[in-house]
Amino acid sequence: MISHDEVRDWDATDPLAPFRDRFALPEGLIYLDGNSLGALPRQTAARLKRVVEQEWGESLIRSWNDADWVDAPRRVGAKIARMIGAHEDEVVVADSTSVCLFKLLMAAAVTREGAILAEDDNFPTDAHVAGRAAELLDREYRPVPRARIAEALTEDVAAAVLTHVDYRTARRHDMAALNAKGVPIVWDLSHSVGAVPLDLKRDGAILAVGCGYKFLNGGPGAPAFLYVARDWQPRLDSPIAGWWGHKAPFDFSCSFEPAADIGRFLSGTPAMLGLLALESGVDLMLEADAALRWEKAVRLHDLFAARMAELCPTLERVTPDEAQERGSHIAFRHPNALAIVRALIERNVIGDFRTPDIARFGLTPLTLRFEDVWNATQIISEVIASEAWREARFQSGGPVT
Ligand SMILES: Cc1ncc(COP(=O)(O)O)c(C=O)c1O
Repeated sequence: MISHDEVRDWDATDPLAPFRDRFALPEGLIYLDGNSLGALPRQTAARLKRVVEQEWGESLIRSWNDADWVDAPRRVGAKIARMIGAHEDEVVVADSTSVCLFKLLMAAAVTREGAILAEDDNFPTDAHVAGRAAELLDREYRPVPRARIAEALTEDVAAAVLTHVDYRTARRHDMAALNAKGVPIVWDLSHSVGAVPLDLKRDGAILAVGCGYKFLNGGPGAPAFLYVARDWQPRLDSPIAGWWGHKAPFDFSCSFEPAADIGRFLSGTPAMLGLLALESGVDLMLEADAALRWEKAVRLHDLFAARMAELCPTLERVTPDEAQERGSHIAFRHPNALAIVRALIERNVIGDFRTPDIARFGLTPLTLRFEDVWNATQIISEVIASEAWREARFQSGGPVT
């Protein structure tokens, strides 16, 4: 078994350790929820202050040109492209993940006859969007268990929505194998981007969306991004035509002609504060070597798993053993997972709960020390062994879990 001293040595020699100070993390807190809301990069606070006070406060509308706000959706998209193995002109930042998903799914589904395929136990928004798209297009809505997706990608499917890394179990789809089936797939990369190695071009992906506020540290409700492979861009039309998707918005023409590039998937004026906060988070992520990030994420998981197996052998881990089959969080099943998570939060260990019985802990290599995992697992095991979670105050709480 790994010793506490060994774990301290890992931190002392960790090449990513200096990144922790680049985030504004409260002293004494073990933050294991960067897969849900990424921590605040210090540079984002400074950037937003400048944007609010100078770019907005002093330059006002001139900033659309002078501070290049106008190009921010494509510029930040190009930076995210570097993280996901896409060309820089294949990604744009817009809207929320749900809206981006709707746009790409509708755009893809109208190009073929057939059903709309989705996972039957995915994050709800993916199911809602897929179901509504099927309704609007008068197609069959076909939800399928995640384990049976490969065989369900048949010729009579117009388009599918798949989440690359499952939000509960962290189980990762084999993107290349599923794309090879030839059905247009909109990949939801919400739990993948900034978390696991991604190479969309290599893996034959044509469409994808992802979240800005999780592993990209873009801030609460940060805008999302969407990816459309170059050769698909001229073939697809957004179902939400808006002036920002027009080829020349400032011509003010009421006849819609979509932009020739990825900008055709924009709709309305982008929320600039959120977009620039996201840019700052992405800039910070890009400073860290992606291979090192993933290597550390794997070690954080394996340390967490080994400690829990030793300290709490009855607790069922649901994340896969093999690193290449999972994302960057670890999750356990317990009938009282919600009360356990609440009891942990009171002890300054922040994870989250996903219904019906999952306690989930995000493993973010830029903010976490190996010793944080050592300490968190100790505290989790104490809460479970003492059954402290049974206390009345942990049986209810706020609506966000
Ligand atoms: C797989 C997945 N898709 C989408 C979302 C969120 O979508 P939105 O950004 O539209 O709220 C989440 C949020 O946790 C998610 O886990």
